[in-house]
Amino acid sequence: MTRDCLQFLRTGRVVRLDRFSPRTTVLDWLREHERSLGTKEGCAEGDCGACATVVVRERDGRLVYEPVNSCITLLGQLDGAELITVEDLADRGELHPVQAAMARQHGSQCGFCTPGIVMSLFAHYHCCNGATTRDEINNVLAGNLCRCTGYRPIVDAGLAACSGAADDRLSRSADARLQALRGLDDNIDLFVGNDSSFFAAPANEQSLARLYARHHDATIVAGATDVGLWITKKLAPIEKVIHVGRVAELSSIEPTSDGYAIGATVSLARAAPVLGSIDPDIGEVLRRFGSIQVRACGTVGGNIANGSPIGDLAPMLIAMGATVELRRDERIRTLPLESFFLAYGKQDRQPGEFVRRVIVPKPPASSHFRAYKISKRIDEDISAVLAALSLKIEGGRISDAKVAFGGMAGIPKRAKAVEAVLRGLPLAETRRWQAAADAVGEDFTPLTDVRASSAYRLRVAGNLVIKALAEIAGANSDTTRIAGRRMIADAAE
Ligand SMILES: Cc1cc2nc3c(=O)[nH]c(=O)nc-3n(C[C@H](O)[C@H](O)[C@H](O)COP(=O)(O)OP(=O)(O)OC[C@H]3O[C@@H](n4cnc5c(N)ncnc54)[C@H](O)[C@@H]3O)c2cc1C
Ligand code: FES
Ligand code: FES
Repeated sequence: MTRDCLQFLRTGRVVRLDRFSPRTTVLDWLREHERSLGTKEGCAEGDCGACATVVVRERDGRLVYEPVNSCITLLGQLDGAELITVEDLADRGELHPVQAAMARQHGSQCGFCTPGIVMSLFAHYHCCNGATTRDEINNVLAGNLCRCTGYRPIVDAGLAACSGAADDRLSRSADARLQALRGLDDNIDLFVGNDSSFFAAPANEQSLARLYARHHDATIVAGATDVGLWITKKLAPIEKVIHVGRVAELSSIEPTSDGYAIGATVSLARAAPVLGSIDPDIGEVLRRFGSIQVRACGTVGGNIANGSPIGDLAPMLIAMGATVELRRDERIRTLPLESFFLAYGKQDRQPGEFVRRVIVPKPPASSHFRAYKISKRIDEDISAVLAALSLKIEGGRISDAKVAFGGMAGIPKRAKAVEAVLRGLPLAETRRWQAAADAVGEDFTPLTDVRASSAYRLRVAGNLVIKALAEIAGANSDTTRIAGRRMIADAAE
């Protein structure tokens, strides 16, 4: 059975749409169709947060409020969810507590960025269980650019508003809205359009496999934090969209005998605590992945399938020895993640084949893992270089090494020459560390681009190898890092 209209909850009503372009963004629909003009367009590429709205879904029996950049979210992605905008916050003329705090603290000057900031804080207001910290507010606002107020009053407003249990119109109507959302959860495939132009959102994996086998020229959309920009910036004429966000089988995180199987549509926000529990450096890289809005939408599968040479997950997962599971029609195959990336823009993925899961083993107790993200800004910036090292230490020697880099080649890639120098190296022989760092030059001839020069990339990558060796040998991360200190002590034996 197929449903031919999109349905989502908006201001207490169900919106049903049976005709819309598969490229329509939530922002376009709000401003051009609903004429809700409170949500602004700044960059149209997911960076500034002026367009932030909140999307609410049921997860584990409760409502989860997530800030979403509406400029790069496709309208069809809203199926089965509730959309909240800045217009919906005030209650009978009374400002919402977040809005009132912003006004009281003088958190707005020109005001263009303010609706987005209010929406990010509003989502936090509903998620933080009445307690927050300055660091958390900074994290929440990393994807909201304000050029004229200065952040101190905005952060103060967030701290004031988010202290105390949520008590607003939305919290008071939570039960009714939860029931309404359950009413939309029909588990039926969505297909709006016709065979040459459509937005489809299959409800299960079998339907996805069949549809993609039939339309392997369609564009798979998960969180749209990449695809959204193809539409808004490249004006890509995408006519067939298969949204994978409703496929329950792809959204689970399952423990395996030695790690986790993470479904392709698991968002970076949901993956972060799980991957972060394997190693705190992964948690910190994911904390710095885009912004809270990007992590709420962007998925593990999207970050792998896009084949980006500067994607943050791939080098870390390669160093951990992860495998990727792909499915085409009825056929499922598994391959080491490092072999998935063939060349720039080319992955080992057949037409009609999609990413199902990523299987991530936990490093054994004798292994020491490190990951470092180098970018021009700490928050919301794409990596110039990402280094990930997994070193097995036995009897004070490195008995095995897996080292992978992003940003050093056309694909995320193992550093085989570095690994060869490291294998067998006694950790205490500090004079030989430089040889391992120098081997980066045998492995890579990086590009010069806007993020970094080739020489810088080579130098920083080598230095990161030395930094990892120093830390694993016992140097305190207080002395090796200026930010994001490693949270656990783990000096090598
Ligand atoms: C402001 C901003 C900041 C960002 N910061 C970072 C960052 O710090 N680090 C980083 O690595 N990336 C970053 N990104 C890039 C992006 O967020 C990530 O690559 C994200 O993981 C993509 O996931 P998605 O679900 O949004 O993918 P989508 O945009 O939905 O899809 C991306 C690609 O993968 C394909 N695809 C998606 N799912 C599947 C599947 N299951 N099977 C087959 N193909 C599939 C799509 O067809 C498309 O080609 C940023 C993006 C923005 C806009
Ligand atoms: S308009 Fe800048 S993030 Fe959407
Ligand atoms: S108030 Fe002017 S940009 Fe934020």
